[in-house]
Amino acid sequence: MYPRLKTSDNGPVQNTSNRLRLLDELPPKLPDPVTAKVAVVGLGYVGLPLICGFAENATAIGFDVNQAKIEELKNGIEYTGEVTATELLSADIDLTTNPADLGNADVILVCVPTPVNNRNRPDYGALLSASRSIGQNMKKGAVVVFESTVDPGTTEDRCLPVIEEASGMQEGVDFYLGYSPERVNPADRTRKLSDIKKIVAGSSPAVTEFLMQLYARVVDAGLYPAASIKVAEAAKILENTQRDLNIALMNQLMPLYDKMGIRSSDVIAAASSKWNFHHYRPGLVGGHCIAVDPYYLIDAGRRHGLSMDLIAAAREVNEFTPYYLIEKLEELFDQNDQSIQNKRILVLGRTFKEDCPDTRNSKTFKMMDYLWSRGADVFNFDPVAEDDHFEGGRGTNFIGDPVDEGSFDAIIVTLGHAVFREQLDLATLISLTPKQAPMIDMRGMYESDYASDHFNYWRP
Ligand SMILES: NC(=O)c1ccc[n+]([C@@H]2O[C@H](COP(=O)([O-])OP(=O)(O)OC[C@H]3O[C@@H](n4cnc5c(N)ncnc54)[C@H](O)[C@@H]3O)[C@@H](O)[C@H]2O)c1
Repeated sequence: MYPRLKTSDNGPVQNTSNRLRLLDELPPKLPDPVTAKVAVVGLGYVGLPLICGFAENATAIGFDVNQAKIEELKNGIEYTGEVTATELLSADIDLTTNPADLGNADVILVCVPTPVNNRNRPDYGALLSASRSIGQNMKKGAVVVFESTVDPGTTEDRCLPVIEEASGMQEGVDFYLGYSPERVNPADRTRKLSDIKKIVAGSSPAVTEFLMQLYARVVDAGLYPAASIKVAEAAKILENTQRDLNIALMNQLMPLYDKMGIRSSDVIAAASSKWNFHHYRPGLVGGHCIAVDPYYLIDAGRRHGLSMDLIAAAREVNEFTPYYLIEKLEELFDQNDQSIQNKRILVLGRTFKEDCPDTRNSKTFKMMDYLWSRGADVFNFDPVAEDDHFEGGRGTNFIGDPVDEGSFDAIIVTLGHAVFREQLDLATLISLTPKQAPMIDMRGMYESDYASDHFNYWRP
């Protein structure tokens, strides 16, 4: 793991002062993985559960650039739903916006966002800015591990040079580098951080071994040592891209099956009776990962002179799905000899995924914008959503309770929040709509004879 000792031009060094200088040049030892003080940079969906895990048996440092978020976290307030207020308040975390505090950490885990810009090109801004803060403040001997999802090569070719330049230190000599992709599945209450096998990769076998022991502090499900940092980066982005492609297949077939008079859900249920069929459903693909990460691979392909046609096509299919749902709604109105113009449409759900408060990059906004621009009045209800910003929603009314808003001409259920099942039963929806009102129910939440009897009901 360590670079070979330098010898003088005259052969092996003999005298004491030279020997002392040589000892100075020895790279610092890796920290003790069991007691190493951990800092997490970026306290969001990924960083928060991670830091709470590490803070269970040792003080940890939580650094974020968002001052308001740090103040809220200090008061036990957090919106991701990934940790409880009790967990947060009882965890031994020094919460800070001061990057100098990173100098107290033996290990720095980076969990900042990796979005795309408005042309769907990778935006490495947060990653590089975090790398600079780390480089300017980390101590000698620190281990820096990136967890953000990136295209292969980002950690070593983009982030490392920034850290080395900002610190004046050299990787493998003064500090160490690793990558361990985060695989948490927000809103999944059965598979938490400790239940998901974690991939680790260091810049050398010794760093990988260090990471195996470090992450064993928070992961019970086991660790997988990847062959290299690039392999670990590639593995994570493959997982998400594979998911995007598979959902795109279902989204592409959804209109075809519909024209054939069969339901995707029936087809998928039948196909699932074979052991090696993979169960994916059609739907709106949004959020910070599945709808974003493939663009990093498309961009990486381009840089290597390779066109990632299949990945790009899947993205296009999934980007089109919001429009297809509105076409379908128009068809249902048409069957009733009505148009979508001036109709009051209730849209249930605006987060990008079931039971998860995250609205970032939710395609429901795109769908509602289109619906509004086709002349409908759009009302959106989602008690799960935590919006720190709205993406689109040109004319949408965001409502607190559908029952207070009078009647609706149609309903679109974009996803199956458990709270809908608990608080908004079919009888209530029937009472809010005229007979034969179109209902699009993407998850089949309300599927029943009653629903088909009252609504012009459609589910994929
Ligand atoms: N959310 C998921 O389900 C999920 C799952 C696996 C992997 N990932 C990946 O993990 C990474 C983080 O995602 P997330 O969902 O936790 O994001 P998030 O937006 O919830 O949290 C990121 C945090 O980083 C902070 N931040 C931004 N720039 C910073 C900087 N320069 N220094 C310090 N803090 C900074 C933000 O203020 C924010 O609090 C992304 O690369 C994402 O693709 C996310």
